[in-house]
Amino acid sequence: MLEIRNLSLSIPVGGEHILAVSDLSISLKAGKVLALVGESGCGKSLTAQSLLRLGEFQGVNKEAGDILLHGQSLFDMSAKALRKVRGGVVSMIFQEPMTALNPVFTIGSQILEVIGLHTDLDKSAAKQRALSLLADVGLQDGETLMQQYPDSLSGGMRQRILIAMAMAGEPEFIIADEPTTALDVSVQKRIIALLRSLQRDKGLGMLLVTHDFGLVAEMADEVAVMYAGEIVEYGSVTDIFDKPSHPYTQALMNCRPETTRDTHELTVIPGNVPSPGSWAQGCRFTERCSRATQACSSSVALDVWADGSHLARCVRVGEP
Ligand SMILES: Nc1ncnc2c1ncn2[C@@H]1O[C@H](COP(=O)(O)OP(=O)(O)OP(=O)(O)O)[C@@H](O)[C@H]1O
Ligand SMILES: [Mg+2]
Repeated sequence: MLEIRNLSLSIPVGGEHILAVSDLSISLKAGKVLALVGESGCGKSLTAQSLLRLGEFQGVNKEAGDILLHGQSLFDMSAKALRKVRGGVVSMIFQEPMTALNPVFTIGSQILEVIGLHTDLDKSAAKQRALSLLADVGLQDGETLMQQYPDSLSGGMRQRILIAMAMAGEPEFIIADEPTTALDVSVQKRIIALLRSLQRDKGLGMLLVTHDFGLVAEMADEVAVMYAGEIVEYGSVTDIFDKPSHPYTQALMNCRPETTRDTHELTVIPGNVPSPGSWAQGCRFTERCSRATQACSSSVALDVWADGSHLARCVRVGEP
């Protein structure tokens, strides 16, 4: 289990740090997919990157909370132990397959480097392992491919290579931050099918950051909905689709193309996500919410549970 507990993160803005993720808790379970959804700028990538403590390379600070891998804090680990975790226990697949590969090294040398980090295989065994990883992600003629440079490959092929590299250390968890948005629609489908089959075959726990509710329905077991740096709703995929309880989740669901196709008009939520530093008092969604009352801007709805295991951070949950 990989767990974020009450995590608050701050980002550098004009010489000071301001809160961008606040009191956030989620957990990834072996073999299960947790989808993290929300509009642009809500803090999804900050949250995803925190699971490997990557944010600190960009000036992101942890203000409070903890991240536990099988009960052990990532913040108590030595640099060496953390390097073993990255790619060996928890792997990340980024949004941009164009920039995540180094243009000056061959595909082969980049895959072999990752294999070298996580295994003790000798040269020829490492090469066999690289070829078998490439075959696993549907890339034929690995011998030729390994001699090539990233520039000569399509976006879909590059994303397959990044997935192969993410699998090289046989991780237990995969963090996929919008893994297909940079790809053509036809390629997206194939990459998703690949990710899903790897996830199921290897029983991986997965955090899937996405805007795409079709993909959520297809892949996720649980869904966490994020708004302005916090989780506003968290439940099983059936809870979220059948009885979305937070007005923000309801509004997001109404924006799905499949629900608006017949009206010839794409519903959008009026207004914008408030940026870090300008969150409202009380519920942060108040000013955009069609159901807001006076109470919403003064009271903070903390941990209001719609039922058993389904969290909805809204004071109006349960009202008619
Ligand atoms: N390293 C950083 N330094 C300064 N600000 C940052 C940094 N990383 C993120 N931010 C800011 O924090 C907020 C949340 O960013 P984040 O990238 O997590 O959003 P997101 O939900 O992933 O959005 P998107 O859907 O567009 O990818 C944004 O306002 C962003 O500009
Ligand atoms: Mg993002």
